[in-house]
Amino acid sequence: MIRSATAAQGAGVAPGAAVLTPDNRDQVLDLLTGALRTGVDVKVREDIYDAPRVTPEELRDLIVDDLPEGSVDAAAVVDEVRRRILPYCKNEASPRFAGFADTGADVAALAGAVLAVFAQQNLINQSFDSPSATFVDVAVLRWLRDLVGYANPPVGKVADVWDVGGVVTQGGTGSNAVAMMLAREHAGPGTMRDGVRDPGRFKLVVPAGIGHYSVKGALAWIGCGESLLEVPVSGYRYDLEALRRALRAHRGEVMGVVAYAGDSRTQTVDDLAAVHDVVRGQDPGIWLHADACWGLLCAFTDRLRHKIDGIELYDSITVDAHKVMEVPYTLSALLVRDPGVLRTITTYSDLIMRETFAFGQVTPFTGSRAWESLKLWAMMRARGRAGLAAMAEHRLDTVAAFSALVDTHPRLARLHDPDLTAVVFAYLPSGHDPARPDVERLNRVNRAIHDQVLREGRWHLHQFSLADGGRVAPGAEVWPLRFLGGNARTTADHLAELVGEVARLGRLHDTP
Ligand SMILES: Cc1ncc(COP(=O)(O)O)c(C=O)c1O
Repeated sequence: MIRSATAAQGAGVAPGAAVLTPDNRDQVLDLLTGALRTGVDVKVREDIYDAPRVTPEELRDLIVDDLPEGSVDAAAVVDEVRRRILPYCKNEASPRFAGFADTGADVAALAGAVLAVFAQQNLINQSFDSPSATFVDVAVLRWLRDLVGYANPPVGKVADVWDVGGVVTQGGTGSNAVAMMLAREHAGPGTMRDGVRDPGRFKLVVPAGIGHYSVKGALAWIGCGESLLEVPVSGYRYDLEALRRALRAHRGEVMGVVAYAGDSRTQTVDDLAAVHDVVRGQDPGIWLHADACWGLLCAFTDRLRHKIDGIELYDSITVDAHKVMEVPYTLSALLVRDPGVLRTITTYSDLIMRETFAFGQVTPFTGSRAWESLKLWAMMRARGRAGLAAMAEHRLDTVAAFSALVDTHPRLARLHDPDLTAVVFAYLPSGHDPARPDVERLNRVNRAIHDQVLREGRWHLHQFSLADGGRVAPGAEVWPLRFLGGNARTTADHLAELVGEVARLGRLHDTP
């Protein structure tokens, strides 16, 4: 028998014992049940953290070490993860994690995620790599297309991947990058073959101050350089006249326009139909991309649906299930109005089978790909249209309740009327006058509140810079706080407690 050096020293685990086999089935099941119990207990915890907050350097020194010489069994490893690493992980499913809501807590999605890990399919090819999983991708993409208003061919007419009209990606950034490749190839057919020769004709229009960095990054990654054209906004939506002027001034140079169905700050949904009309009116050849990472929520309920009217006219749409559907990381999709357009950005490889349903032909940047779609399929299958609507409406109710608390508090002010689940608000220092604001003091107190919230780790709120639309310090760059009402566990008591906490910290840090 061949033994490794460590095994010879008596500290090695026999290779056969390290993998799942019929012989160790019951022990492995016990181990995994224990790991699952730990995972479930993490998620149902009220607290965000299970240990006092420590610095990154302390965590570095706690976790980063040399590969040990000796072996331990998997149960010891699970125990070590439980003790040494998990207590410091954030629990975004905590009802006090109120700045984002990537809870990953949908029950069916969790089951789908676990099963997908065990199934170990590879979505790069269909026939031998993911015989049935490929069609779960197809089913989910068609459900999403249907929700945003893109037409689907009858199932029997889906003859290959080119008839599907979308790709599953690992996040909104990936989806947006694919959209930018499509825009570039649309503006300069053959760029995939010849490379970018004239970056000046690949300009991208984005709304000033609220664009997400992912499209800027994508332009750099695909060789278009720094070619953003930022157009002024009004109320966190395109100033349509300014948009028209910019397109006129840069006629022949603009490859695409990005509109946000829920930007990453206030989640304002742009007037998608009006933006479409302005862009098409100026140049029908410009690629129109809707970033609906957040705005997908509108497709779930009639209370919101009208806000994304016109999205179905856009050439491409990004949706992000891990942001708005409580699906564990990661799951996003890029949907395209004309399914065949994905052919323009394919690359040939004889390593990826040229078979009809091999998604590897359609997914730029990606070779082997995990079966991420099963968790979303499970979530949507379990909830159905009625469940999706109920989820969206519950969030709107949470947002309305939080907004009301902010509005009735003398020291708090909202910076916008929420379209979706974000409420951006600020603590107003004593004596604050919006007509003559002390912006430095306003920002100082709100930044101090945010710092302390993160440092203590009992709550979580988000913070970023934003040009004030006129409510607290007109036109100034402010650093407000953001609440996100996307957690099904957040109760009225949590909301009241959170507002009380922000007010307490505000009083504490409000020094002239
Ligand atoms: C509007 C918008 N687009 C794209 C992204 C990127 O998404 P992801 O983090 O899934 O890559 C985000 C993330 O916050 C976003 O808010």
